[in-house]
Amino acid sequence: MVVTVDGPAGTGKSSASRLLARELGFAYLDTGALYRAIALAARRDGVEEAAESELAAWLAKVPLEAKPTDGRFLVLLDGQDVEPFIRNEAISQLASRLSALAPVREHLLGLQRSAGERGDLVAEGRDMGTVVFPRAEAKFFLTASEQERARRRWLQLGQSGQHVDPAEILADLRRRDQRDSGRSLSPLRPAGDATVLDTTPLSLSQVVATMARQVRTRISGT
Ligand code: DC
Repeated sequence: MVVTVDGPAGTGKSSASRLLARELGFAYLDTGALYRAIALAARRDGVEEAAESELAAWLAKVPLEAKPTDGRFLVLLDGQDVEPFIRNEAISQLASRLSALAPVREHLLGLQRSAGERGDLVAEGRDMGTVVFPRAEAKFFLTASEQERARRRWLQLGQSGQHVDPAEILADLRRRDQRDSGRSLSPLRPAGDATVLDTTPLSLSQVVATMARQVRTRISGT
């Protein structure tokens, strides 16, 4: 069974998806981390500004893997976990920019779908319910007010020791939202059959409980 969780940045969808997967005993795939890993590799190899045709050839050689480990897929570049290097604003913006390009999306499609073939999965991103897993059994689209999303991002960055001006966070979120929703390929939008959940007034555990309840109802077929 595949459960999809989509939504804009700062809705808490990564934390909610990770916890939901743990609660259900499913694997967890953070597809944003794949786009971020591509951004990291592009930077390293100096191809951020390359033409789409050049990017396609370059992508074929990027040693990127999603390795199932202990309930989640680890994103590896050159066999190394990318996590410590991808959670910063420069990589966020570059990942958002590169994710609008066809070669990048096509390249990651197979990798994401093969994760879904390995068994029960919670897949989180922007186009999980619309493009990557259109036949998923349960789909969620998380939203939250802009102010709340900026607040959550500020808290999250603070926890990892990054102290960023809240106004700057809000401006970055808006820039990324506009790009992710306005692009022509796989734009951010809820699938027609997704449950849209406004998480603004909800705690993380309330969000997870609501989703888990719905998935269990689907599983039991009631
Ligand atoms: O979820 P995230 O903030 O880590 O994602 C980083 C960027 O990657 C996001 O701004 C848009 C892109 N992305 C995408 O286009 N499709 C996905 N399924 C996941 C992420």
